Amino acid sequence: MIQRPLAHVAGLGVFVPEQVVTNRDFEARLETSDQWIVERTGIRERRYAAPGETVATMAQGAANQALDRAGLTAKDLGALIVATATPDRIVPSTGCYLQALIGAHRAAAFDLSAACSGFIYGLTVAEGLIVSGQARHVLVVGGEKLTCITDREDRSTAILFGDGAGAVVLSAGAPEGRGLLSSFIKSDGRLADLLYVPGGGTADPISARVVEQRSHFMKMAGREVFKHAVLTMVEACDEAVRRAGVRPEEIDLLIPHQANIRIIDATAKHAAIPPEKVVVTVDRYGNTSAASIPMALAHAEATGRLKRGMLVLLVAFGAGFTWGASVIRW
Ligand code: UT7
Repeated sequence: MIQRPLAHVAGLGVFVPEQVVTNRDFEARLETSDQWIVERTGIRERRYAAPGETVATMAQGAANQALDRAGLTAKDLGALIVATATPDRIVPSTGCYLQALIGAHRAAAFDLSAACSGFIYGLTVAEGLIVSGQARHVLVVGGEKLTCITDREDRSTAILFGDGAGAVVLSAGAPEGRGLLSSFIKSDGRLADLLYVPGGGTADPISARVVEQRSHFMKMAGREVFKHAVLTMVEACDEAVRRAGVRPEEIDLLIPHQANIRIIDATAKHAAIPPEKVVVTVDRYGNTSAASIPMALAHAEATGRLKRGMLVLLVAFGAGFTWGASVIRW
């Protein structure tokens, strides 16, 4: 059996767009209310990227901070992964744009498509690249510009999503026993159409009809997705904790994907993690898909809740469906 940890988080960074959009801003043009949004989702505000900001430029901000804090430069990176559901272009990868922006000229750069679970998938792949000797330092970014695939006229989804990016540098070795203790990733493609963007890809390329039908925007069967989110995130927590060889009560901090406060509360309850150990940022950032976990990590660190040596459980669920969890000795 492989003895973990074999790789640790050497640096963490975040990029939060400046524009704040509050629930009140939606009240003016959609049949919704601040009260409904807060009660049903926990969201109070979210951030929108400026027109010139892309996933790559937001990722650049997060990446430079993560590298700085790791005491590394972009030239030290052997690989760079951008987990995103909203790539800047279909071709080439946002990873390659980011590579050029930060000057990571020695890295293999690519995108990872696992929706909201992308960051956990990214950590798992990065650890594999390190263990196989492909790279000593891997940058894992979760970055999204979800406002570009969100239908602002659809009240059931418009209120949920925001933009942003977060990044970590995963490095070989386990100083003081710190690092990734376990990962668990899984998916079920039979449920793909419960949360998807029907048009604008190669199955139904962009056309006047696609735009007219607004099928280039995200569609979600909210209640179904909600149900699966809780079930799968609980499975992922249990499995990651078991694989790490720890007990749930040893977990110091739970950092769940930030989709809905009710999903977060239900997951924490079933995973036997008390509320005071749960990090919540959905109130301030909404759902930022692959960016939500690294943004929440950065928030927890900035507010003094995430400290070196802590046992941290990350868990996510997203379109695909995909889900996963990791335990990290921070
Ligand atoms: O990132 C990973 C993937 N995403 C998720 O995990 C999201 C999972 N789903 C959810 O978070 C929730 O299902 C939503 C927040 C999307 C919806 O909450 P819900 O409690 O499941 O509401 P619902 O879809 O069952 O709708 C209840 C009612 C409906 O009205 P009727 O049919 O009962 O008259 C909706 O039309 O609420 C209505 N509604 C709204 N009302 C005011 C839906 N959106 C809104 C809104 N404002 N923004």
